Amino acid sequence: MARSKPLVAGNWKMNGSKLNLADLEALKAAIRDSEGVEVAVCPPATLISRASVMLASSPIAVGGQDCHPQPSGAHTGDISAEMLADAGASMVIVGHSERRSAHNEDDSLVRAKAEAAWRAGLYVILCVGETEAERRAGDAESVVESQLEGSVPDGATPDSLVIAYEPVWAIGTGVTPTTDDIAAMHAHIRNCLRRRFGEESDGIGILYGGSVKGENASAIFAVDGVDGALVGGASLKVKEFLTIISAAG
Ligand code: PGA
Repeated sequence: MARSKPLVAGNWKMNGSKLNLADLEALKAAIRDSEGVEVAVCPPATLISRASVMLASSPIAVGGQDCHPQPSGAHTGDISAEMLADAGASMVIVGHSERRSAHNEDDSLVRAKAEAAWRAGLYVILCVGETEAERRAGDAESVVESQLEGSVPDGATPDSLVIAYEPVWAIGTGVTPTTDDIAAMHAHIRNCLRRRFGEESDGIGILYGGSVKGENASAIFAVDGVDGALVGGASLKVKEFLTIISAAG
């Protein structure tokens, strides 16, 4: 375990309305301390402000799902890292594969977003992961290596960033890699970080993401080198998300 505590972050994606704030109340009631596990929720931008107020007295952190590299300006529809921080977020996801593919985000843009997040004082969850075709072609490790090289900014520290390894083919599909494959990729990511940032980077956490559920969470958290999870669909169901959180603790 690289982090002192595992991190379980829920990514609501484009789901949730004010009605789902009741789910956050339930989560808040269930999670009263962060002794064993750090918990974060990344709701849609429309709910960040209300979620932050609601969770202010709770150990649950609130995060954004993306940010623009610039602090402000003529960028219709975009949200800056400073705005996320202003709304009460303490972290942000960058480089999610749905952004990389649906919004054509390349590594240099992801890197600029991570730098913007730091500028605004936000902790970064930076996603990497190969497609199914890349894995089948035997390129999974080299793809992830070049994503890390291109999208992790210089100066990354355990306090400023966590990597989320999310094989694209495992996201929202119900399919997960074998625990051996997860262990192998996490070890590879660890080596890439160490080569670039030295042994100090050993404290940088590496989360797994992609079809984490109540029923597979324990097996995934038991894998060597897994420091927590980025959870999509299962984070929308309070009971299941709590099952995942207790599996991490
Ligand atoms: P999933 O999504 O848990 O629904 O597979 C994970 C993610 O996209 O972060």
